[in-house]
Amino acid sequence: MGPELASRAHMQNIVPVVDAALKEAKVELEQIDAIAFTQSPGLIGSLLVGSQFAKSMALALNKPLIAVHHMQAHVLSNLIPEKKPSFPFLCLTVSGGHTQIVLAHSTSELKVIGETLDDAAGEAFDKSAKLLGLPYPGGPLIDKNAQDGNPKKFSFAEPQIEGLNFSFSGLKTSILYFLQKEIKKDPDFVQKNLVDLCASIQERIVSILLKKFKRAALQTGIKDLCIAGGVSANSGLRKAFNEMCEKENWNAFIPPFEYCTDNAAMIAITAYYKYFKKDFADLSVSASARASWD
Ligand code: KG4
Ligand code: ZN
Repeated sequence: MGPELASRAHMQNIVPVVDAALKEAKVELEQIDAIAFTQSPGLIGSLLVGSQFAKSMALALNKPLIAVHHMQAHVLSNLIPEKKPSFPFLCLTVSGGHTQIVLAHSTSELKVIGETLDDAAGEAFDKSAKLLGLPYPGGPLIDKNAQDGNPKKFSFAEPQIEGLNFSFSGLKTSILYFLQKEIKKDPDFVQKNLVDLCASIQERIVSILLKKFKRAALQTGIKDLCIAGGVSANSGLRKAFNEMCEKENWNAFIPPFEYCTDNAAMIAITAYYKYFKKDFADLSVSASARASWD
């Protein structure tokens, strides 16, 4: 879906969605304590629809307005379930647009200590899937096919990036060259090897992510580790993350599936903590596609 279509879809859906949410929660508008919205980052057209709607609602109901950062909300989605990490904790946030290691000192002090220098982990999944002829978004399809594949069948190069940062663009290129070479020999190479290709690609993306996450845990000495974002729905990542934490005696936290991919509950939980700090936005606040973390 292009940005234009996405903003139109927001326009069409925002009133019925809010209406349905109130009905399902059996809550009247008057009972709501504050109105929260996603301020950044994201597609500007969609953010503007949400922010304008939230501002109008806050004004009409005379309730405080709370601006939420999408990536911070992914981190705090780990505070939704009853079993929560204790501060300080580390979170590997892996989505379609971001790949970050975040050190959370408190609900309001979140520090990015590592991030991708190029593609996000979700993009690495989606672009690899595209090379295999799978439709967008390919991440979940790679996951599904990988269940029946051999992750050791093909080995893709591991990037050599210093510190806690990531790089995924080289992986895409190495998959592309490898496939071009094999398809020349056998035009049906991808179809014949689809499950093993998916398993091997997934294995590499997961190993890149966890190598740096492990390094971050060792460097900081923090023992409560979380994952969040769309890619944290990946079964290979969830399994390997749990195994790593078990082996190292760290506490692993993974939000339930519905809180991994984009959702409103993560915006609400972030707003909940901001509410108690009276961290309110004024009505002149505007949405932004890119935003500083602080
Ligand atoms: O957090 P999210 O829902 O939206 C963004 O804020 O970007 O993440 C979307 C990304 C997409 O790249 C999608 O392919 C990926 O998460 N994703 C997965 C899986 N489910 C979603 N990647 C791998 N395996 C999955 N099961
Ligand atoms: Zn997201």
